[in-house]
Formats: sequence, structure tokens, C-alpha cells
Amino acid sequence: MSDKILIKGGKKLKGEIPISGAKNAALKLACASLLTEEQLTLTNSPNTLRDMKSLFDLLQHIGADVVVKGKTVSLTAAKIKDDTAPYDLVRKMRASIMVLGPLLARHHKARVSLPGGCAIGTRPVDFHIEGLRTLGAKIVLEDGYINAKASKGLVGGEYTFPRVSHTGTENVMMAATLAKGVTVLRNAAKEPEVVDLADCLRAMGAKIKGDGTDTITITGVAKLKAAKHSVMPDRIETGTFMIAVGLTGGELLLKNTTLAHQSALVALLKQAGISIEQKGKNVLVKGKGGHSLQGVDVMTEAYPGFPTDMQAQFMTMLSVANGAGMVTETIFENRFMHVPELCRMGAKITVHGSSAIIRGVDKLKGAEVMATDLRASVALVLAGLVAEGETVVNRIYHLERGYEDLVGKLSACGAAISRL
Ligand code: UD1
Repeated sequence: MSDKILIKGGKKLKGEIPISGAKNAALKLACASLLTEEQLTLTNSPNTLRDMKSLFDLLQHIGADVVVKGKTVSLTAAKIKDDTAPYDLVRKMRASIMVLGPLLARHHKARVSLPGGCAIGTRPVDFHIEGLRTLGAKIVLEDGYINAKASKGLVGGEYTFPRVSHTGTENVMMAATLAKGVTVLRNAAKEPEVVDLADCLRAMGAKIKGDGTDTITITGVAKLKAAKHSVMPDRIETGTFMIAVGLTGGELLLKNTTLAHQSALVALLKQAGISIEQKGKNVLVKGKGGHSLQGVDVMTEAYPGFPTDMQAQFMTMLSVANGAGMVTETIFENRFMHVPELCRMGAKITVHGSSAIIRGVDKLKGAEVMATDLRASVALVLAGLVAEGETVVNRIYHLERGYEDLVGKLSACGAAISRL
């Protein structure tokens, strides 16, 4: 598969884009299949994403039967054949850590490679481990692996996350569904993906209350059963296309998505000058393009605050806006790697610690740039759409981890974008 994208900037976007199921929901939902020997069927699943394929490989290695048909995937883990998630599979995708809670809960034993560092910061998993320890798991870290055991099964407990953790909340919540007794998770993540996972677990027979608030209570049950669940729409993909049309100008109908989870982002995009409206099951976005946008300030926060996964794209938008804007990143310590690349395209950005000042320029200029992580890559694609001349984005495998058919979706709406 090609590793570069070529974009000729300056084309307006007009048309319809189908929004995929959310990567950050689907990955955990698929891991939930390990909690039962019966079949879990996910619809609206972004099965073509590289991260989903990596996870399917891991689930198959563990013993699940994985059958993909278009946007549907059926997962049946009748037996756990291998309770080790090896380094080779985990290093491709951090979210592999999400098999730990389900394996411990059902199989009472798991060995999962530590995910290690990551381009956007150190990203430890200590809260996942501490949370599972409060449910009675004995966990030791050896040779780069998390060795976890709960010989007599997990038991309910209380855990307060020292800091809000999205996947940490989900891992311990999944584990608690099969623990004996009641588990209370405090300072839990409120992300809509956590609620989507809780909905699916409830359909499987789990007893969960309080998801979407900062206290989640789970009453363990003996077994979970078969279920069918539709993956929620991807709010980050939706937001990325909203910014795309704000930058290029034009009109996009984003199909099968919702603004329900987007209030922080949408309020700022409207302030910047983008028109955004829910129309039934779709979202209509209109933009005037480039310098008609106004600079605004933003700070990333845990949900319902502004998502860190939209920070890089927002910075591209500010690069060509009228006036200046400040971006403050509070979730990850090293998430400005797109800055030097945007500057190579003519952006005026100064970084001070965890804040960046972006002074809007009239035009970005096409250049050859390098993608460093998933959201940074798409920020460079957005910059290419509005830049003068040609932009080549290298190392686009990052994009394929999290965006389904990005090139196809954009070119169908008039963008001059192709794989080299
Ligand atoms: C998830 C999302 C990711 C998003 C992030 C924040 C998935 C697969 N990924 O990542 O796209 O950017 O939420 O919304 O859903 N922390 C610890 N110890 C831990 C866990 C986290 O110190 O055990 C710290 C992290 O380093 C970070 C902060 O807590 O600074 C929040 O991270 P967290 O919410 O856990 O992010 P992820 O769940 O990894």
C-alpha cells in the first residue's frame, strides 16, 4: 500500500460524506467479546481501520472467532486459547491493553505486553493496573509484561482514578462486570465512548449505572451473553470534516452522525465562523474558507471539554484564520509534533510549554511534510487542502489507523487528493 498522499490545495468541498463508526468505541466494544463465550455482533463498525485489523489479529490469537462482513463484525470467544497478548501485537496499537480487564474477569489470568512509550507522551497504564488490583487481581510487571492473576475470580472494590482516564475507566469497568459484588469507580471518564461501551455491556447482561457521570457503579454478574450493538458515530472524524469545510469553504452533509457529543468543539467552530446544524441523522456544515475564519482560543480537557484528539486539526484551522488564537494542551505532554511541519508550510506558531500561539497567515504553501501520529497526520492533510500548490504527506500509515477511506471521502467531494 502506498505510503504518501498528494494534495493540490485550493479546491472547495461540496457533497456528502458518510461518517464511520467511532474507532475509540469499536476497539473496546470488540474487546468486550472476550467477556462471554457467546457471540457479540457489532454493526456500524469501522472494520477497515488498521487499528481494528490489528485488534482482530490479537483477539484471534487469544481464541476469538472473528467474522467481518462489510461494517458488521461477529466475535465469538467460545474458549480462551492463549491468555498472552504478545509484544508484537501490542506494539502496533496501545489499545491492546483493553484485553487485560476482560481476560482477567472471565479467564482469571492474563499476560499483556506493556504498551510502552508513544509519540504523544509517555502514556503509562498505572491506573489500569491499580484499578484491577482493587478488584483483587495480583499483578506483577516482569520482562516488559503485565502478569495478572485472580485465582478465585475478581471481587468488587472501590477505586478513585487519580486523574480522569478514558481507557482506564473502560478497562476496569469491563473487568467489574464479572466480579463478585459491587464495584464503584470514582473520578471516572465521562466520554460518550464509555457510555457506548456500557450500553453494549448492559445488552450483554451487565449491571452498570452512572456511566456518563464521574461515578460508575457496577454490580457483578456470573455470566454475560450474546448481544448485538451498533457502534456510535466517530465524533473525531465528524469534527475533522467540519474543520475541512471551514478551511476550504463549501458545504458538506456529514451523514449518520450527531452533534450530541460535540458541544465544546461546535461552540468554538461556530465562534470561528463555521455554520453547523444537525439535520435529522446528518450534520450540515458550511464554511466560507481560509481567512474568513476568526482566531479563537482553546484548551483541551477531559470530556465534556474540548477533545485533545481535535487539537492538531484545530491548530491547522487557526493557521489561516484572521487574527491569533492560543491552543493549550492539558492531556498529553508531547502533542505539538505537527507544529514544525505546519511551520514548514508557512504557519506562524510559537510554542511556550504546553501552549501555542498561532498567528493566522493569508496563505499556507504546499510542502513535503511528515506525519508523526494519527491526529497530527490528518492536521497536515487539512493544511494541504487549503495550501497553495502541492503538499505531499509522508508516512500516512498513521492515517489508516484511524480514518476510513479518507482520500476517497474527500476526493468524492471535490478535493484534489490522491495516493502517490
Ligand atoms: C484515550 C483515547 C485517545 C484520547 C485520550 C484522551 C482510546 C483508544 N484512546 O486514550 O484517543 O486522546 O483518551 O481523550 O480511546 N494516564 C496515566 N496513567 C494511566 C492512564 C492515563 O498517567 O494509567 C494519563 C495519560 O498519560 C494522560 C491522561 O492520563 O496524560 C489521560 O489519558 P487517558 O484518558 O488514559 O488516555 P487514553 O485512554 O490512553
